[in-house]
Amino acid sequence: MKIVVTGGAGFIGSCFVRTALRENWAEHVINLDKLTYAGNPDNLKPIDDDPRHRFAQIDICDAEAVEQLFKAESPDAVVHFAAESHVDRSIHSPAPVIQTNFNGTFTLLESARHHKIARFVHVSTDEVYGSIDAPHDADESFPLRASSPYSASKAGSDLLALSYYTTYKLNVSVTRASNNYGPYQFPEKLIPLMISNALEDKPLPVYGDGQQIRDWLYVEDHCRAIQSVLEKGRPGEIYNIGGNCSLPNLDVVRRILKATGKPESLIERVTDRPGHDRRYALTNAKLTAETGWEPVVSFDQGLISTVNWYRTNQAWVQRVKSGEYRRFYELNYANRGE
Ligand code: NAD
Ligand code: TYD
Repeated sequence: MKIVVTGGAGFIGSCFVRTALRENWAEHVINLDKLTYAGNPDNLKPIDDDPRHRFAQIDICDAEAVEQLFKAESPDAVVHFAAESHVDRSIHSPAPVIQTNFNGTFTLLESARHHKIARFVHVSTDEVYGSIDAPHDADESFPLRASSPYSASKAGSDLLALSYYTTYKLNVSVTRASNNYGPYQFPEKLIPLMISNALEDKPLPVYGDGQQIRDWLYVEDHCRAIQSVLEKGRPGEIYNIGGNCSLPNLDVVRRILKATGKPESLIERVTDRPGHDRRYALTNAKLTAETGWEPVVSFDQGLISTVNWYRTNQAWVQRVKSGEYRRFYELNYANRGE
């Protein structure tokens, strides 16, 4: 099987590519990535010499470049990760989010249709369901109630992807995962930001009261789930992917301080995010029933591995925290203290 992976230089996409080659999920992987601020060739160092991997620096919004690649490679499947993936950035600057997440997905779907690609997995998020009131857990039939430009762009692209099954019978499945964490995550999201700040004795900025709830999924569990959907998922279907690990943000931050051996005095309460979803919660029942997949990495295990990775990969962290990252940090966190 020859797979095109989009966004394969990012956090989850690079984990999928490394794992796909290690576990022989694919004979060839073509990694299509624009290399935005979040795309990092260093994430692919472990497979630099693997002849089964080819990297192509392409923007998914560039229809001609995508067409040429699909024509040249005739892939069997597309696994589509590429996105602008950060809620806070989408609030400051929605235009690139809509362009990549919606228009870019459209470009890929069109090329997949023209080239009659046999399988298309569109990787999405549980954020499309919006905030879920306890004690409910969202299943795949829950309404779309996106709150941020990021989640709205993902909800729109989910509907577009599903329409290509309904209208053109393109073999599309959509996955909706909860919050991922693990090695190689860009330190703008909660867990890697808090770990890297803690390791540098810098303040840990908690939005609002810190009682917002997220479900946490270890990135390798997510990638195995996507592989299960790629192999066994039904066309036109949506599959939730959760880690069975629901925690308030403040608990997560306290566990990070414990794992890094740092004091709670580093916690800094800052102004809340506009439109902040209070609670995400989802059920995996459909994916487990249809494929047998279940998350296997506990939060305690996953967090220790992640903290260890950031501790031992300080060169990676310092490289990604230079330049553009500093500008974003200033934009998002300056003047936010309460
Ligand atoms: P990321 O920001 O780490 O990586 C995104 C990758 O996409 C980068 O390599 C970037 O260069 C590439 N990219 C961005 N715009 C592009 C474009 N126009 N053309 C080609 N490549 C482009 O993101 P991530 O956290 O790995 O998320 C991957 C996917 O998983 C996204 O679709 C996201 O919505 C989804 N998802 C993420 C999470 C999470 O917790 N991180 C949870 C659920 C779903
Ligand atoms: P994030 O990792 O950005 O993921 P998402 O918004 O997609 O769920 O944020 C996870 C939670 O952590 C969310 O409730 C916002 C909160 N948060 C903070 O409190 N402080 C921070 O600096 C960041 C980045 C997030």
